[in-house]
Amino acid sequence: MRIAVCLTNTTKVAPWLAGLREALPGTLVEEWAPGAPQADHAIVWAPPQRFLDEQQSLKGIFNIGAGVDALLKLKLPARARVVRIDDGGMASQMAEFVCHALIRHFRELDCYEDDVRNGAWSYRRPRDRADYPVGIMGLGVLGERVARAVAHFEFPVLGWSRTPRAVPGVRGFAGQEQLDEFLRATRVLVCLLPLTRETQDILNARNLARLMPGGYVINVARGAHLVDDDLIALLDSGHLAGAALDVFRTEPLPAEHPFWRHRKITVTPHTSARTLREESIVQIAGKILAMERGEPIAGVVDPQRGY
Ligand code: NAP
Ligand code: GLV
Repeated sequence: MRIAVCLTNTTKVAPWLAGLREALPGTLVEEWAPGAPQADHAIVWAPPQRFLDEQQSLKGIFNIGAGVDALLKLKLPARARVVRIDDGGMASQMAEFVCHALIRHFRELDCYEDDVRNGAWSYRRPRDRADYPVGIMGLGVLGERVARAVAHFEFPVLGWSRTPRAVPGVRGFAGQEQLDEFLRATRVLVCLLPLTRETQDILNARNLARLMPGGYVINVARGAHLVDDDLIALLDSGHLAGAALDVFRTEPLPAEHPFWRHRKITVTPHTSARTLREESIVQIAGKILAMERGEPIAGVVDPQRGY
């Protein structure tokens, strides 16, 4: 069996090659270069179209992230199945990140930090968690884990998915027909949707205006879910209280973008849930071996659905 590794951008390739060789003894694992022999499976991040055009024999294309939106924009070899990372240590990172953003807002920790910096010993009136229902868009691998973590802090939790999902402690909503009801019952909105035709620009003026007054937006999915100017207008009008943004339409976020300086926006550099190399290698190697044995595997992407 031959495996082609094609990881572009900032990823360090050597430790992936070493880890995959160790996890799949007897397998040829090579970094792809133009004109390389046909491989059976590929491990990719942001591969060039030329890689996919050349590698027409691929059975599996293993993306080293959860989101496959960029990969699905490319023309893929006809018989290849696209497989995403299923948790692999990302779900608990995402739960930490979202709970931190939520609690920092709910407990007004940024305000305390400002006061302390100005030498002020001040108190704010305690808030009631019942007034801060948290609505999670996307109840998949990451969204469900985040919902459980938020419920642990005794916030009311709502979830919205494409098809109905029963998650203990979560009030479930599904489909376009229940979106408005979900938004109207939400004060803190967490976006954990995959980026698809249906979900692009979903955090727009119409939908964000439906959140409870004083709403807060946590976008940890993809930048193209959010209409940037609509968010700024609703923050400036006072309908929304703030936003924590980890993902952006253009990354790195351009220096001139107003998000950097908006006093109600907290920016982080797409870091809420990082791919963990060791966990991911174990998961991918296990799936390759299962595929070779003809067994079903988790995390196979449906290209029609887009996730
Ligand atoms: P997932 O397991 O595929 O779950 C997706 C969820 O979204 C499912 O509940 C699905 O509904 C729902 N959904 C999809 N389309 C919808 C629609 N049109 N309307 C309503 N609900 C819809 O994905 P995941 O692993 O949780 O990851 C979610 C996204 O997080 C990834 O796609 C990626 O873009 C992003 N991400 C970001 C970071 C970061 O560091 N910022 C890290 C990892 C991932 P059903 O349950 O009905 O299918
Ligand atoms: C990161 O954004 C991922 O999709 O894994």
